[in-house]
Amino acid sequence: MKYTFPEGFRLGATGAGWQMEGEKDKRADQKHFPHLMWENDRDAWYLGLGPDVASDFYSRYRQDIPLFRQAGILQYRFNIDWSRFLDDYENAVVNERAARYYSDVIDCLMENGIEPILCLEHWELPAALYEQYDGYASRHVQDLYVRYAEAAFHRYGDRVKTWFCFNEPMVIPELCFLNGAWWPHEHNPRRAYQWIHGKVMCTARTVALFHRMIPDGRIGTILNSPYIVPRDANDPADARAAEVADAFFWRPFMDTAILGRYPRLYLDILQKEGLMFDLTEEDERVIAENTIDILGMNYYQPMRVKAKESAWDESRPFHPSKYYDDYDMPGKRMNPYRGWEIYPKSLYDIGMRIKREYGNIDWVVSESGMGVQREEQYKDERGVIQDDYRIAFIAEHLAWLSRCVADGGNCHGYWLFASLDNCSPYNTFKNRYGLVEVDRAQGLSRRLKKSAAWYRQAAEHNSFEFEEI
Ligand code: BG6
Repeated sequence: MKYTFPEGFRLGATGAGWQMEGEKDKRADQKHFPHLMWENDRDAWYLGLGPDVASDFYSRYRQDIPLFRQAGILQYRFNIDWSRFLDDYENAVVNERAARYYSDVIDCLMENGIEPILCLEHWELPAALYEQYDGYASRHVQDLYVRYAEAAFHRYGDRVKTWFCFNEPMVIPELCFLNGAWWPHEHNPRRAYQWIHGKVMCTARTVALFHRMIPDGRIGTILNSPYIVPRDANDPADARAAEVADAFFWRPFMDTAILGRYPRLYLDILQKEGLMFDLTEEDERVIAENTIDILGMNYYQPMRVKAKESAWDESRPFHPSKYYDDYDMPGKRMNPYRGWEIYPKSLYDIGMRIKREYGNIDWVVSESGMGVQREEQYKDERGVIQDDYRIAFIAEHLAWLSRCVADGGNCHGYWLFASLDNCSPYNTFKNRYGLVEVDRAQGLSRRLKKSAAWYRQAAEHNSFEFEEI
């Protein structure tokens, strides 16, 4: 069956700053938070590799961007590394060499017919602001973030008209401070919820600034709010479990950014648990008055939950799973390499929910992709990776997205993660995501994968063939 997207819908791709750039030309005092995670936990990173080299996009972007064009990428979402962009974080003094680099990347994209889309932060909080002030928990750091945003808008607002405040602002509070998966491996809910609020405030304040500075542009934020699926939606206990998971993982950034308020259930549970963060009336006013224009949704897999089946151990620090259990659905389809479920229909459900509950705000799929290990095993005799699994993955996701758009979903783009193989947090180069291969055995040389030709066809025609879903 042929699927066609309406005019104005664009295929594109994503590449996170720190996961691609490498750290060339950065001073020792210009580290970012992911660098700290790597430096302090190196043995846990795949082969000990980290963001110091990454894909070396910083040195090779003039070679990479024409490859992006050959892969059909029409919009490219990347981000400024805050820790690189400024020399002095307290006074927002721009590092001119870094500023020139981002400016040149923007120009190079445009020369290649690719629209640049900028994000301000993909976790690159400067290490100094983490160490001195505890990052976003600090009102001072929130001020500094807004000053950084102002400098970036000033430099690039003439050429870049679509901006995002954060990529997945939930990830660092959740994985580093709430469930302890990533360095510093804490179970410190108070810190996690204060950080989340700090990022909510940065978003609202930056939206206000942007609307003053770039009235002909659009600003949003990029969320990984998981689509929550209860084991049995007709079972009240399962439905209640899903409601709590939703309040803690889907709603905090979504509701504040689009509806201008925190979800009541979230605040009630935090109050009850004695974990309420510092929320002033002035904060509530700023959040209410400064909502986003466009939403980016990163989607990889749904979050399945069920009613709690065992008693919560009260001696443990709070976690929202006090109110639900994860549900391991029998027979679910998996990406065996990444260990993530493959469930493309969520893109349809997400779009319909945005239509129903969030005023059908303009949105894009800002990340979606398939990480695969040992991809070199799929090379043909010419050395081209035959990633038919990635083509099928993309087509199936696009098919559900196309159905969503046909049913009134307000989605205008799909940006694949990723343009280029890059450095995953902890997994480093284990799982490969790119349309373009980075061959580490051959001095990081680049080569288009089979999926690049498929993607280009789909992007040029805004349509593609796929068996009916
Ligand atoms: C998203 C992030 O959550 O998932 C990316 O925005 C990340 O930074 C991507 O790389 C895929 O996850 P992973 O861990 O396989 O790289």
